[in-house]
Amino acid sequence: MAKASKGASNASKSASPDKTKMQSEPALLELFIDEIKDIYWAENHLLKALPKMQKAATSTQLAAAIEEHIAITQTHVARLEQVFELLDEKPQAKKCDAMEGLTKEGEGILEDTEEGTATRDVGIILASQKVEHYEIATYGGLAQLANTLGLTDVAELLTQTLNEEKQADEKLTSIAENDINYQASQEEAK
Ligand SMILES: [Fe+2]
Ligand SMILES: [Fe+2]
Repeated sequence: MAKASKGASNASKSASPDKTKMQSEPALLELFIDEIKDIYWAENHLLKALPKMQKAATSTQLAAAIEEHIAITQTHVARLEQVFELLDEKPQAKKCDAMEGLTKEGEGILEDTEEGTATRDVGIILASQKVEHYEIATYGGLAQLANTLGLTDVAELLTQTLNEEKQADEKLTSIAENDINYQASQEEAK
């Protein structure tokens, strides 16, 4: 199915630019593949950024949650490689400016907060949840697009990742609400 669509896409590109024959699908497929490359870059970038956050976390519960999400992120990378295979494309990363910005923001929080404080953990959670929401938006939109393109297997893989990103977000909320936010509210600024 994916191979057939891809073939059709290439055929339309190399053939005459007869607009009546070029339906919206080939352009949409091209955009879709580009966006897969973007999130592939983003997930790989996160694999480099997350260990820093894990090391900087004060709460052992938060550090454990981040460690768990590193393993899950590796699964997301592998799943995207499966998506590339289904699309008959080589895995390729395309720089994601948004994820670069989000991880920079996380690093900024480490610079602006004191080591060993709950306040730093609050900052790490905020930065991490921004990342999760970016991923939720991306995978939600891409899963929907995959269905529109008739790429059911791809949509299933993306939906699995989408659900794991939602779970990660919820876990961060519960860690913040159960303990860390209150502890941080008791800390004085230095
Ligand atoms: Fe992910
Ligand atoms: Fe994530």
